[in-house]
Amino acid sequence: MMSLIVNPTEQLTSEVKEHRKAEHSVNPLFLNRWSPRAYDDRKVSDEDLYSILEAAHWAPSSFNDQPWRFIVAKTEGQLETFHEFLHPFNRAWAEKAPVLVLVASNKKRDNGDQNGAHAFDAGTAWGYLAIQATLLGLSTHAIGGFDKDKARSLLNVPDDFDLHAVIAVGYRGEKETLDANLQERENPSTRKSLEEVVFEGRINL
Ligand SMILES: Cc1cc2nc3c(=O)[nH]c(=O)nc-3n(C[C@H](O)[C@H](O)[C@H](O)COP(=O)(O)O)c2cc1C
Repeated sequence: MMSLIVNPTEQLTSEVKEHRKAEHSVNPLFLNRWSPRAYDDRKVSDEDLYSILEAAHWAPSSFNDQPWRFIVAKTEGQLETFHEFLHPFNRAWAEKAPVLVLVASNKKRDNGDQNGAHAFDAGTAWGYLAIQATLLGLSTHAIGGFDKDKARSLLNVPDDFDLHAVIAVGYRGEKETLDANLQERENPSTRKSLEEVVFEGRINL
């Protein structure tokens, strides 16, 4: 059975082992998730798609308001509409992904008050989605580079909702299918050291 922690390199994929090093024990899932740009033609089953959306929707949220909304594009027509609002750099690689999911969130609480936590909560939901996708052998890549006004208008998103990111979902493809400049970047990214981001007691910058 798979161990729940890794210390530090067991159960990492070979490319992750090469590029990422954890300072402390952590489930390999967290390191094995990374955001590729090369996607394969292979379709994502509805079972897997709804599994990752199910995971996202079990994220915690302030007052359990669940402000996140997921707009899914999986048919040719839906995907073409999404491609229209991606910035060209992102469109170049993301149009190969078989599924795109726009993550939005309601700025207002169910009781009508402003919800100061809506973006935080939507971010948690995207994180859950990405982790469940990794468990299913799928890859994800969040895209903030898209025309929000165009997306809002094409998808009829009301003004009460903020648009955060389009998530590309699919199976990894061959690096060689990407433009040369993107091939160089098709590797798991690294991280700052923990001491740069963790403070005990109070922040000390
Ligand atoms: C909110 C958000 C917006 C992002 N926007 C883009 C984008 O427009 N284009 C892109 O290629 N990657 C984008 N990324 C991917 C990040 O660059 C990537 O997650 C980061 O470099 C860490 O790498 P990893 O996800 O492989 O660990 C975005 C990620 C997030 C979370």
